Amino acid sequence: MSQSSRPQSSRGEFDIRQVGGRIGAEILGVDLSAPLDPAVVNEINAALVAHKALFFRDQSLDDAAQLRFASLFGELTTAHPTVPSAEGQPHVLAVDGDGVRSNRWHTDVTFLRTPPRVTTLRALVVPPHGGNTLIANSATAYRDLPQPLRELADRLWAVHTNDHDYAEPRTERAAEHRRQFVSRRYRTAHPVVRVHPESGERGLFIGGFAQRLVGFDADDSRDLLRLLQGYVTRPENVVRWSWAPGDLVAFDNRSTQHYAPDDYGALPRLLHRVTVAGDVPVGVDGRRSRVVEGDAAEHYTPASAA
Ligand SMILES: [Fe+2]
Repeated sequence: MSQSSRPQSSRGEFDIRQVGGRIGAEILGVDLSAPLDPAVVNEINAALVAHKALFFRDQSLDDAAQLRFASLFGELTTAHPTVPSAEGQPHVLAVDGDGVRSNRWHTDVTFLRTPPRVTTLRALVVPPHGGNTLIANSATAYRDLPQPLRELADRLWAVHTNDHDYAEPRTERAAEHRRQFVSRRYRTAHPVVRVHPESGERGLFIGGFAQRLVGFDADDSRDLLRLLQGYVTRPENVVRWSWAPGDLVAFDNRSTQHYAPDDYGALPRLLHRVTVAGDVPVGVDGRRSRVVEGDAAEHYTPASAA
């Protein structure tokens, strides 16, 4: 190991090296294909809550091993509420650059009342350049807000939906993906500031599915959401991961947003996504998210009854 890549801290079982100043850490010295001691799992979960995104290089897992690893954080969701799973793998979503490209900041599946707790992504095919994933820390974004804006955000609620005015799909494959994506319509009201259930930390809980602020018209909603979102995507709050085949990335979907730049042209890119079921978000006043339209998505998440 080179001098510059020396780990910053050691927990005995593995080493942690922070990647961004405010988000992201590489975990070194853990083979995720081997059974993990419960104490190590607890340490990894604590690192995930603290650093928001964890990067594991050179893992070379298969679907079964990714499913096993994700299960350490809790019950799994199925692949997606509306998009079909990878062939023969009901809990695996193929994130394929050939379909739709996620070049829009978002938190996964926030149009449901119980969005996933953790998202894991595993690189199967990555382009030789480009095709990175950006992940933003929405808790530091919240702390960056000027106090009067923080106080306003604490009281705001946003309606998130999977069915809004997306850009026109550029290919027939992307159009088909879009049709699947909106084949059931969901709308959920979430607090704009979510209290993290494990750390108690406050974070902005908005992103691309947040379309309308409760009590505001469309223009004011757009302006206010853009203002708040600008803090999430500040470079200080963002880490950029350059994929290598075999990498596994896990991020805390309760306190992050992510974005996949569409900068790799026709080069192939394939990730497999497995998500861990999450609970119902809670705002600073203790109120919980509520369904506005759509079912509880029991086909997707065991936490739907929570
Ligand atoms: Fe995503």
